[in-house]
Amino acid sequence: MEDGIIFPVLSSQRLTLNAINEADRQAIFGLFSNSNVVKYYDLDAFEHISQADEIIAFFNTRFEQAVGIRWAIRLKETGELIGTCGFNSWSEKMKTAVIGYDLNHRYWGQSYTTEAIQLIIKAAFEGVLSCGAINRIQADTVLGNKASEAVLKKLGFCEEGIRRQSGFWTGQFHDLTCFGLLKSEYCEI
Ligand SMILES: CC(C)(COP(=O)(O)OP(=O)(O)OC[C@H]1O[C@@H](n2cnc3c(N)ncnc32)[C@H](O)[C@@H]1OP(=O)(O)O)[C@@H](O)C(=O)NCCC(=O)NCCS
Repeated sequence: MEDGIIFPVLSSQRLTLNAINEADRQAIFGLFSNSNVVKYYDLDAFEHISQADEIIAFFNTRFEQAVGIRWAIRLKETGELIGTCGFNSWSEKMKTAVIGYDLNHRYWGQSYTTEAIQLIIKAAFEGVLSCGAINRIQADTVLGNKASEAVLKKLGFCEEGIRRQSGFWTGQFHDLTCFGLLKSEYCEI
């Protein structure tokens, strides 16, 4: 990571969230080369390790430009990168942010994502990120992504409706379910 804004490190009982770096290329490749993980993404499963390098550079550039942030989700005990999460975008002016997350398929169903997302939501609402205090966090899920919906509902997100055909990839339009969480509604679980 370049000098400049300090990358915020967050931690919970089982997890450490910190920057993704070049040494994570193999773990990032393992994550995004799994078709289950990218099933609902505007992304084909990775086939080349160079794609991991590209996405790591992309995440870091977004942070350096202060337009978003992506943390590594690591097991506290071993430091292993098991997923990523962050804010794909944010608006300091509107006090809004759009959240995103993914976990290595081997670790699904153990509440790791819920634990990680709790940390970043808290950081955003408390105003410790470079975007300042956020008032509304939004998530957009593709219809059928039940695991993602379950994570959001566990964390208190409100299902606000379907934004029809607001996504376009693999040659077709996709309806997205919009979830929102306001600072005033937020309570730690
Ligand atoms: C979404 C994702 C990150 C969840 O990771 P995870 O660590 O398994 O999530 P958690 O264990 O914290 O919670 C998952 C919840 O979904 C539930 N769930 C999983 N599959 C489900 C299904 N098909 N139908 C209903 N609920 C389901 C689990 O039971 C669990 O809820 P519970 O704790 O109440 O039992 C993971 O599935 C993933 O990486 N998906 C691909 C990437 C992705 O879709 N990202 C989100 C884009 S919006």
